[in-house]
Amino acid sequence: MSKLRVLRVNYKHVHHHVRLFSSSTSLKRPASQLFGIPSSPEYPSPAEIAPLLAEFASHPPKPLTLSTLLSFGKPLTQESLLASVNYVLSEVPRLFGQRVRSLEALPFIVGMNPFVARILAGYRRAFKIIATYPPVTSLEENARFTTQLEALVQAHANDIPTMAKGFQECSRYMTPEEITQFLDSAIRNRITVRLIAEQHIALSHALQHPEQAAKAHIGVVHIACKPKDMIRMCGSFVQELSEASLGASPKIEIGGDVDATFAYVPVHLEYILTEVLKNSFRATVERYQRFKHSSSDPMPPVSITIVSPPPHTKLQLPNPPRPAFLAMRIRDEGGGVSEANMARIFSYSFTTAGRNSSGSLEDDSGGGGGPYAAQHIGGSAAIGNSDQGAVGLFGEMTGRGVQTGMGTIAGLGYGLPLSRLYARYFGGSFDFVSLDGWGSDVFVKLRCLDDAKDIPL
Ligand SMILES: Nc1ncnc2c1ncn2[C@@H]1O[C@H](COP(=O)(O)OP(=O)(O)OP(=O)(O)O)[C@@H](O)[C@H]1O
Ligand SMILES: [Mg+2]
Repeated sequence: MSKLRVLRVNYKHVHHHVRLFSSSTSLKRPASQLFGIPSSPEYPSPAEIAPLLAEFASHPPKPLTLSTLLSFGKPLTQESLLASVNYVLSEVPRLFGQRVRSLEALPFIVGMNPFVARILAGYRRAFKIIATYPPVTSLEENARFTTQLEALVQAHANDIPTMAKGFQECSRYMTPEEITQFLDSAIRNRITVRLIAEQHIALSHALQHPEQAAKAHIGVVHIACKPKDMIRMCGSFVQELSEASLGASPKIEIGGDVDATFAYVPVHLEYILTEVLKNSFRATVERYQRFKHSSSDPMPPVSITIVSPPPHTKLQLPNPPRPAFLAMRIRDEGGGVSEANMARIFSYSFTTAGRNSSGSLEDDSGGGGGPYAAQHIGGSAAIGNSDQGAVGLFGEMTGRGVQTGMGTIAGLGYGLPLSRLYARYFGGSFDFVSLDGWGSDVFVKLRCLDDAKDIPL
């Protein structure tokens, strides 16, 4: 299926959400009456789930490490799958419960925002479904549960743009630090939920269809993830996007250890690469067009250097051995970032997209307009590349343009902060260095997961 077609399918999904929330309501908050949070039994009232919430909040967290996550797949048997489902049924409600509580703890006026209220109602629903799910004791029951889990993951696919919109509207009621803190922890929680859910879905799928299960995968982790292939895949998606929104696109050059592989979660790598490439492509094309080169002048390429971890990191004697990282530098000649903007590029919602074309922005951290309006975050290539059934479910990695039916290249101001969260998630780093007036370098270091099994997630 072509990527763009998938984007349109998701576009429908957005409308579905809008419809869902147009009926009337019975939540305690007056806002809910105004804004139409659905009143079906699926959307529980705060009072209804309060006791359950308190119960799950009292459960001690079972610290999640990668080894825990991987252990259910090594070896993959009916017993290990049932152990996995038990883990999902105890941890996912606890994590959903955390989200509900932290959303409920927001300033009242922020909770009244229709977008924030919608997110909260969705989390209450998800929490109730999983927290009250009966025990799963057979593969048949697991198959039913997995279908439900996939539906739940899908239903939350648009959470981040919805939250982005909500917090954009509430920016005057919370400090940027408060917003950043809230979003960082909300998004980390979400990454963890997805990782647990996806891991279980992938394992269930692998046990049902052993012939299709890729040997190099243990659930969502790919033992030999190849950055070059991922760059090619994300690059071709971003190229389409760039041509569609800006009318041109630079080439990508790949150097260094081009054949390097490492153990990682491919969808995370894909997210980061897509966001960084979108930024570099946009900067390169805009700068090139601004300076009106003659048509024979080539557009400078985006140049990516891949570096495998130095071999000695694994052989070191001192204990514990130094962690190994796969590193990448993504370099463009798109003019870089001005000194004045540099401090803000990692803030949620900071974007320069659409500034020139719309005078109506409240301030320059508002959500862009003009050619970038209705932008959607996300690396989109995952959806076109389901070599492993469940991968495409990582919904927020799916670019969905609300107005155009396809993603555009920039506009929400979420690409950098989210990419950095993803890179740091397993202990990696994400740094941006600007050579103002010339171009930018992004340094991404990703922890090699085969030697990071016991870091808590
Ligand atoms: N490679 C780059 N060259 C020049 N400026 C950049 C580059 N990468 C990011 N920026 C600047 O940082 C801002 C924030 O980037 P970020 O990716 O977070 O948001 P965005 O690209 O505007 O929107 P989106 O949410 O779609 O990614 C951009 O608007 C741009 O001004
Ligand atoms: Mg961006």
